[in-house]
Amino acid sequence: MSTALRQSIIDACLRMNALGLNQGTSGNISLRHEDGMLITPTSTPYERMTPDQIVFMKLDGAVVGQGRPSSEWRFHLDILRSRPETNAVVHAHPPYATTIAILGRDIPPIHYMVAAAGGDTIRCADYATFGTEQLSRNAIKALEDRTACLLAHHGMIAIGATLDRAMWLAVEVETLARQYHGCLAIGDPPVLSKAEIERVREKFAGYGVK
Ligand code: 13P
Repeated sequence: MSTALRQSIIDACLRMNALGLNQGTSGNISLRHEDGMLITPTSTPYERMTPDQIVFMKLDGAVVGQGRPSSEWRFHLDILRSRPETNAVVHAHPPYATTIAILGRDIPPIHYMVAAAGGDTIRCADYATFGTEQLSRNAIKALEDRTACLLAHHGMIAIGATLDRAMWLAVEVETLARQYHGCLAIGDPPVLSKAEIERVREKFAGYGVK
């Protein structure tokens, strides 16, 4: 029953908390599998999570077997449905990314690594209540041409072709948010041009964890 895949999700969750990207039972991870996705169960401490608790949900939203999927299953499913190149979705409440998201700000091109998420900003999706279709719609919009976004008053999402890639990007986004937070504490940071971010984006083809 795909135990290794299920365990890889739990390992990523544990890493997410160990890296300070997330705390407690916040955050959730999904991975495309067969005609659906494997997703973390709701409200379960990662230290106690076992492979059989990971929930399998078909792309039509039907849960197969037992268990209650993450309360955020809606945006995980909608992202995997609308982005065929994406196989992994990481959601977390990292301290700095969430601080910027509380302010409702996009992360501007303060550093060339912003291009790692696909464009010249990391957008902040409008607020909607957690677990709702509206939040899913807002997230999908903020993720257009991007592989990461912030969620206002909530956290962030990073996506990728692999779970390693999505985790790598989640770490990068939190680092950028921390840098932006530091810049804002001092003043108004200068930013790179759209043309420079485009140049970096082209150079990035093939860069980073796959
Ligand atoms: P779950 O425990 O239901 O995955 O919810 C955590 C969370 O981060 C909601 O945004």
